[in-house]
Amino acid sequence: MSGNKSCPLILIFFFIFYLLAAQSFAADSTDILYEIQPLIRVYKNGTVERLSGTDTVPPSLNPKSKVLSKDIIIQPSLNISARLYLPRSASASAARKLPLLVYIHGGAFFTESPFSSTYHGYLTSVVAEANVAAVSVNYRLAPENPLPAAYEDSWLVLKWIFSHSKDGGGCREAWLRNNVDFDRVYMSGDSAGGNIAHNVVVRAGSEETGRVRIRGLFLNCPHFWGKERIGNEASDPKMVAMEESIWIHAYPNSTGFDDRRLNPDYDPNISKLGCKKVVVYVAGNDILRDRGLQYKKALEKSKWEGVGRL
Ligand SMILES: *[C@@H]1O[C@H](CO)[C@@H](O)[C@H](O)[C@H]1NC(C)=O
Ligand SMILES: *[C@@H]1O[C@H](CO)[C@@H](O)[C@H](O)[C@H]1NC(C)=O
Ligand SMILES: *[C@@H]1O[C@H](CO)[C@@H](O)[C@H](O)[C@H]1NC(C)=O
Ligand SMILES: *[C@@H]1O[C@H](CO)[C@@H](O)[C@H](O)[C@H]1NC(C)=O
Repeated sequence: MSGNKSCPLILIFFFIFYLLAAQSFAADSTDILYEIQPLIRVYKNGTVERLSGTDTVPPSLNPKSKVLSKDIIIQPSLNISARLYLPRSASASAARKLPLLVYIHGGAFFTESPFSSTYHGYLTSVVAEANVAAVSVNYRLAPENPLPAAYEDSWLVLKWIFSHSKDGGGCREAWLRNNVDFDRVYMSGDSAGGNIAHNVVVRAGSEETGRVRIRGLFLNCPHFWGKERIGNEASDPKMVAMEESIWIHAYPNSTGFDDRRLNPDYDPNISKLGCKKVVVYVAGNDILRDRGLQYKKALEKSKWEGVGRL
């Protein structure tokens, strides 16, 4: 009896084994150049598969908060665009100008966009709560466009924004021209976006930029790193390997893990950070936590004449 029963059971086992084997064969086949879970899989034939952050939601008038958003193209040849936000108060009267938040989304330089449900939801609620206008930057992503593309794109958007200030004479985007107080422009980003925001504000302070003036910087779990392990980093070798893989593939031409763009301790221009106020937010269990703390120390050690808060 038992022999009769086990026969189909064995067949089922073999079938399941076959399915699993076939699946794992497909997943880690020799076709894959590299994979960083849960972000990206890159095939040797050049195909890039994003494993997260690819969903999109359209711009809208939020029925509850009445935050209004729309998408605009800023630089067609590079396909650089942005999602713009105005709070409910803006539509009533443009007489009182609003502060502007320039937001750089995270996603390890590889994934996400201003159009994903995560960032659309986040910006909508920040704009409603803070009563500010916002520009959420759609910079080009690695690996198709390795760094420094994202830095260049975000810089280009910042300059474009300030071309709308009064003395700039620009009048291409009415939402900015009519609603924004260009003396109160704040920059922010999370994770990789925090890294980009920092680097762009250093550039704003280092170059003769004329009109670009950033009032403050808010970094949420910024993505900084370095060659030496600090704090608790060494306790999680898997995350260390992931951080290294991200940087190597996002910026193949960097000078390494102590590149000034990744490790602010090695940025000769950190004292030129182009704003007087910085808030850094870190999360207790985040592998990037100690880098956030180190960032504040690096600012304090430098000749930067601003106030940093954690
Ligand atoms: C590249 O290889 C992957 C995996 O074998 C396949 O899914 C994809 O269609 C290929 N792309 C091209 C352009 O051949
Ligand atoms: C331009 O960017 C949009 C939004 O990210 C994307 O959907 C589109 O495929 C891009 N176009 C090109 C030609 O890369
Ligand atoms: C630092 O800033 C100076 C100008 O203030 C600039 O010429 C130089 O290229 C910057 N260095 C780096 C590494 O960005
Ligand atoms: C790295 O730099 C070299 C020399 O400047 C350049 O030819 C190459 O295209 C760059 N590679 C990447 C991935 O940016």
